[in-house]
Amino acid sequence: MNTSKTASKYDRFSKVYDLFESPMERRAFSKYRAKALSLAEGKVLEVGVGTGKNFQCYPRNVEVIGIDFSRGMLEKAERRGRDLGLKNVRLLHMDVQNLEFEDSIFDTAVSTFVFCTVPDPVKGLREVYRVLKPGGKAIFLEHMKSESKLLNILLYLMDPIMRILTGTSTIRETQRNIKLAGFRIGRVENLFFDIVRIIMATKPLGECNSR
Ligand SMILES: C[S@@+](CC[C@H](N)C(=O)[O-])C[C@H]1O[C@@H](n2cnc3c(N)ncnc32)[C@H](O)[C@@H]1O
Repeated sequence: MNTSKTASKYDRFSKVYDLFESPMERRAFSKYRAKALSLAEGKVLEVGVGTGKNFQCYPRNVEVIGIDFSRGMLEKAERRGRDLGLKNVRLLHMDVQNLEFEDSIFDTAVSTFVFCTVPDPVKGLREVYRVLKPGGKAIFLEHMKSESKLLNILLYLMDPIMRILTGTSTIRETQRNIKLAGFRIGRVENLFFDIVRIIMATKPLGECNSR
């Protein structure tokens, strides 16, 4: 699916997104978010910020720039930021596949449940890599294809339905894509089988951006 179609899908989805996700959020996702985001430091880029569900999970002393290509999702995030009285979060309308930032300016990059949706995930991940400082860390909380053939049968069955409903794929090989974009993968923690994972990665020191 192309970028503008996916963004429009999220504009429509923004009206019911929090409601749609609330059972999973209560049961599991909020715990996963708290675990992953406690590790953010310094100047943080959150890509695909959505409705701002991560805002409350950040350490107090970080500065967050959140981007999303859906104005509908950003409006919800803005409202959440206002309601929470946050002063350390700035939101921008932007496509992760073409980030409008200079190279090497962020200490931490964050994505939660985003690279299942980005139309060209490796392009988006390369952009995240570009804007991260050498030695900077990336925190990915993502769902992806499993290593288990049995689980993948289910994921392949779900994939066309999820693509139509939410523009999301259940069979992306996100860990492999992160590596392809140049990141050095550190700790990987499986949270729901190996379908939902926290992947900690770094941009190695001394790396240049031209790939
Ligand atoms: C499943 S939602 C996750 C939202 C949020 N990160 C969360 O954890 O609740 C995926 C988000 O990624 C955004 N997104 C997808 N592709 C994008 C792109 N190319 N550039 C910017 N945002 C994108 C969508 O608009 C949506 O807000």
